[in-house]
Amino acid sequence: MKYHIVTYGCQMNLHESEKIAGVLRGEGYTEPSSAEEADIIVFNTCCIRENAENHVFGNLGALKKLKRQKKGLIIAVGGCMVREEGKAALLCERFPFIDILFGTHDLSALGELIRRKRAERKKIVSVRGEREETEDGIMPVRTSYPNAWVNIMYGCNNFCSYCIVPYVRGRERSRRAEDVMEEVRALVREGYREITLLGQNVDSYRDGGVAFPELLERVAQVEGDFRVRFMTSHPKDFTEELIAVMKRNPKVCNHLHLPVQSGSNRILSLMNRRYTREKYLAELELLRREIPDCAVTTDIIVGFPTETEEEFRETLSLVEEADFASAFTFIYSPRTGTKAAALDGRVPDEVSKERLARLIELVNEQTRRKSAQYTGKTVEILCEDRDEKKGLYLGRDQYGRMGYFESATDAVGAFVQLRIDRANGISLYGTECGRR
Ligand code: SAH
Ligand code: SF4
Ligand code: F3S
Repeated sequence: MKYHIVTYGCQMNLHESEKIAGVLRGEGYTEPSSAEEADIIVFNTCCIRENAENHVFGNLGALKKLKRQKKGLIIAVGGCMVREEGKAALLCERFPFIDILFGTHDLSALGELIRRKRAERKKIVSVRGEREETEDGIMPVRTSYPNAWVNIMYGCNNFCSYCIVPYVRGRERSRRAEDVMEEVRALVREGYREITLLGQNVDSYRDGGVAFPELLERVAQVEGDFRVRFMTSHPKDFTEELIAVMKRNPKVCNHLHLPVQSGSNRILSLMNRRYTREKYLAELELLRREIPDCAVTTDIIVGFPTETEEEFRETLSLVEEADFASAFTFIYSPRTGTKAAALDGRVPDEVSKERLARLIELVNEQTRRKSAQYTGKTVEILCEDRDEKKGLYLGRDQYGRMGYFESATDAVGAFVQLRIDRANGISLYGTECGRR
């Protein structure tokens, strides 16, 4: 029996899909396949913005035909969207052929739901439960070698006014430090070369006396040839201690993803972000004083309710000052149930689109300028994959920049020294000149 998983959303979800694959293996589904050949199709959904939901709706509709053609095909839908107020009911109504709806709260229960579905003919809905995941004991089927994602916490307590995550993922829960460490040690032993610690707000991690900087340091001191990243940090919780840990542990990548969202203090306050533009920039200054080569990436939202042209320009000027290595940019999307959705002063779509285009242009220009400085330099990348179309291997340096190169032998999983010949946008092209 074969399975097919379709994943939307963030790295948290990508990793959860690896756990879903683990559950499916336990239920007798042996290999991944195309949707057409699968005996079970699982959608792992995201609802962070409206367009994420529209993708899910569109692609679910297309399954109707498959379901009609193949008797016994199970269609299961899980993830964040399913836990959104009223969405499970809407999904049942619009897509009556869905067999199982399951929330993110208890992936380990998915096996049981599948068994029940095979035994009974009726639709199974398990969206909310008593239990919240922290230790689910599921062996993920990892798909991102040489990287391995490791959850350190779940949920979020921040309630940024635009964001649905706290509603669908519930309150913050940290995993036990010793469990995290055990997982990391095992992964390094198995040969994983990059560990990415995941949480919606890693700086809030706490297990008894162990806060995030200490956990990061413990991970970075595990013996073996690997590097470690983490995301996401929140500017309101940023600490010098974290910088110190990054600085003194060579295994920690010199990269920080620090979402700023806006450059305007009035908008930041409406967003409930709990820092100012000045505080954010001061943090970057401190970081760069200690770790001058540290790459900073960010997330930015344009068109938040009541955002004026002047305030948007403050975002542009912050981007100029902050000198980000790259940025994810979004148009504000109202999410039912969040504080911001109730605000007056919707910014018209055309205005938001125009602001987004200007922002992207600025970010791209900065990225290009940074890439150009690489030419002639040597960087070390961790080779992740081969791009068959280009006929080249590819990987990332510690700053997150993508490098492509030729190799006669399989390079995946190797730390490769590249001399950079040319840059194209965010991508670098180089010649191999050594391996670690
Ligand atoms: N916990 C992480 C990730 C949150 S989701 C963090 O706090 O950074 C990733 C990004 O999506 C956010 O940083 C934000 O920029 C964007 N985002 C979240 N909700 C949004 C919304 N309603 N509209 C547009 N962008 C949104
Ligand atoms: Fe959403 Fe804010 Fe939590 Fe990030 S920190 S998940 S943006 S509420
Ligand atoms: Fe991630 Fe989307 Fe959920 S961004 S936490 S999958 S709403």
